[in-house]
Amino acid sequence: MKGSVPIVDYKQIEKTTNNFHESNILGEGGFGCVYKAHLDHNLDVAVKKLQCETQNAQREFENEVNLLSKIQHPNIISLLGCSSDGDTRFIVYELMHNGSLETQLHGPSHGSALTWHMRMKIALDTARGLEYLHEHCHPAVIHRDMKSSNILLDSNFNAKLSDFGLAITDGSQSKKNIKLSGTLGYLAPEYLLDGKLTDKSDVYAFGVVLLELLLGRKPVEKLAPAQCQSIVTWAMPQLTDRSKLPSIVDPVIKNTMDLKHLYQVAAVAVLCVQPEPSYRP
Ligand code: ADE
Repeated sequence: MKGSVPIVDYKQIEKTTNNFHESNILGEGGFGCVYKAHLDHNLDVAVKKLQCETQNAQREFENEVNLLSKIQHPNIISLLGCSSDGDTRFIVYELMHNGSLETQLHGPSHGSALTWHMRMKIALDTARGLEYLHEHCHPAVIHRDMKSSNILLDSNFNAKLSDFGLAITDGSQSKKNIKLSGTLGYLAPEYLLDGKLTDKSDVYAFGVVLLELLLGRKPVEKLAPAQCQSIVTWAMPQLTDRSKLPSIVDPVIKNTMDLKHLYQVAAVAVLCVQPEPSYRP
């Protein structure tokens, strides 16, 4: 597809999601829900619905469509098209039948119990997707929101990176006045503390995902909305003086620092530990 984005008929999305009925919701993100729908010839797809009343939402929509339209890789979600209805925009992707890694690892049913072999393969797929963004895209793409809920699994449990709303190209103007964003628990300490954003920020977040795959649990518990708000308003990139931190964020920073160390341990473990000799990624 490289560059051009097919326009999908909105009526078809409306009809095949049963007018966005909640039974067709696959997931929820910052700017809206993702629904299961189908296109002509009964091709099952996933459709992200974005209410684009705010400039931020509009920017995220355009950003994601622009970037994904230029990218084709087996470990990155395929963009199939987009659509609109007034202020509402839709992005149509390939359907990933096994949902997100987060749901597989931490979801309510804990049904799938990923085997060690599957976890190794998911780690490898994720690394391949990231490597493609960092090493083979020109200019390089920084995803900026690497986390288990943005790693999707197809019917064969192949992993693909998704949600490029926050992604930026390395060296772009927008990188210079970037607002702190991403997901707490996955933010690299140098980014959280000094606003230093590089492709290594994604690598740090990938380390946290490795920990999730290894430990089977989230390394950092969810924060209360008030805590998140306090961090977001405080932690602008220009603020580098740790002594100015409100006391509420201190434990979070400490957790994140600890994770840096754990990440190194985890990375070494993933590379070295082979619990069953037959498993070779
Ligand atoms: N959730 C978000 N995007 C998805 C997709 N493409 N397939 C399945 N579930 C999703």
